[in-house]
Amino acid sequence: MDEVRTQVAIIGAGPAGMLLSHLLAAEGVGSVVVETRSEEYVASRIRAGILEQSTVDLLRATGLGERLDAEGHRHRGIYLQWPGERHHLDFVDLTGRSVWVYGQTEVQKDLVAARTAAGQQVYYEVGDTALHDLETDHPSVTFTDASGAEVRVRADAVAGCDGSFGPSRCAVPSSVRQQWERVYPYSWLGILADVAPSTDELIYAWHPDGFALHSMRSSSVSRFYVQVPNDTSLDDWSDDRIWTALADRLGHGQDGWSLETGPITDRSVLPMRSFVATPMRHGRLFLAGDAAHIVPPTGAKGLNLAVADVALLAPALAALVRGSSSLADSYSDTALRRVWRCTHFSWWMTSMLHTSGDPFDAELQLSQLRWVCSSRAGAAGLAENYAGLPIGF
Ligand code: FAD
Ligand code: DHB
Repeated sequence: MDEVRTQVAIIGAGPAGMLLSHLLAAEGVGSVVVETRSEEYVASRIRAGILEQSTVDLLRATGLGERLDAEGHRHRGIYLQWPGERHHLDFVDLTGRSVWVYGQTEVQKDLVAARTAAGQQVYYEVGDTALHDLETDHPSVTFTDASGAEVRVRADAVAGCDGSFGPSRCAVPSSVRQQWERVYPYSWLGILADVAPSTDELIYAWHPDGFALHSMRSSSVSRFYVQVPNDTSLDDWSDDRIWTALADRLGHGQDGWSLETGPITDRSVLPMRSFVATPMRHGRLFLAGDAAHIVPPTGAKGLNLAVADVALLAPALAALVRGSSSLADSYSDTALRRVWRCTHFSWWMTSMLHTSGDPFDAELQLSQLRWVCSSRAGAAGLAENYAGLPIGF
């Protein structure tokens, strides 16, 4: 077996893993990243689209802001709507903070470019990733590399950034692991379309037929989501059916507003769940991002939460490899404060905007929406959570 020695072995080359390697390098700490998929596959997955203020601040402060500043779009807020009414919430007025439209695909490209330029060692297309000796101060990760050779990475610490299906979470023994889960009775059908956005800022729409969201990626590419039942097949949703549902739910024709349509270039169905696993640290294993928690996408928090985790984890690991364990010891509790805040916010946005078929629920949702849009306190609560709390909250 080939042996490699580094300070931090990182499992997963998604945003959490690649940003962690970048932040560790800035602290003078070496790492090796292992990833089951190919570099191209990871870079092209269409996922999140909104960066909160603290994510943007961090990317800029660590040399990753150039393309974001040139190509990202700063938004002051969002629109909330229900049939007949559309209201703008101005986060800048309400909290002094804003959000940016900049896709996860772009963040990933920037991370890969920076790590490649720095000579970061990343093993793509690995198999059989396994974690060893996590309760000692000499843990390791083994895997089969793309050529079929067996490799062992010896490290001072292991970072489990391997998303919801990776092996890291289950390496925390079940005797100490606690898990919380909420599965929602609906999914999102998401599309990417070659059409200019029909709105300047995102529209989150409550509608009796189900939730719809108008987002965007650039001045010529729009992103849309519609609420669909679980187990929906894409085969049942023709382009026509998708555009009709979006037009109805987003209010085409109301107050002179119209939804422009265009060729659909990507489509998928996303199930929705809330999930938290604790603790986020066991021995020399540290979990970050989707490996430890999943949120439903309604609050645009998944990617931002992964960034916030590794912003805490990098200095903790840098101190640990130099012999000081206090930040590492507090990592899980500190990270979980934000995780539970975002878990609540994402659940709240999801519950307020998705229809269940129950008329009582519908009245409560509309009452809540009217309050959020008419009370400065209600609007500020949403804005503070959506634009994001400071790192370390
Ligand atoms: P990931 O991006 O999942 O990265 C984990 C990496 O680990 C992957 O590349 C995976 O291949 C790798 N890996 C897994 N197993 C192993 C192994 N055994 N060995 C080595 N590597 C391994 N969030 C939003 O805010 N808005 C959205 O619209 C949105 N849409 C989403 C759509 C989908 C389909 C999904 C799955 C997520 C979406 N999210 C969204 C959530 C957001 O994309 C994630 O929160 C974010 O990607 C988390 O980053 P991560 O690095 O923790 O995990
Ligand atoms: C996008 C996704 C979200 O989950 C969200 O709340 C806002 C925007 C997007 O993909 O653009």
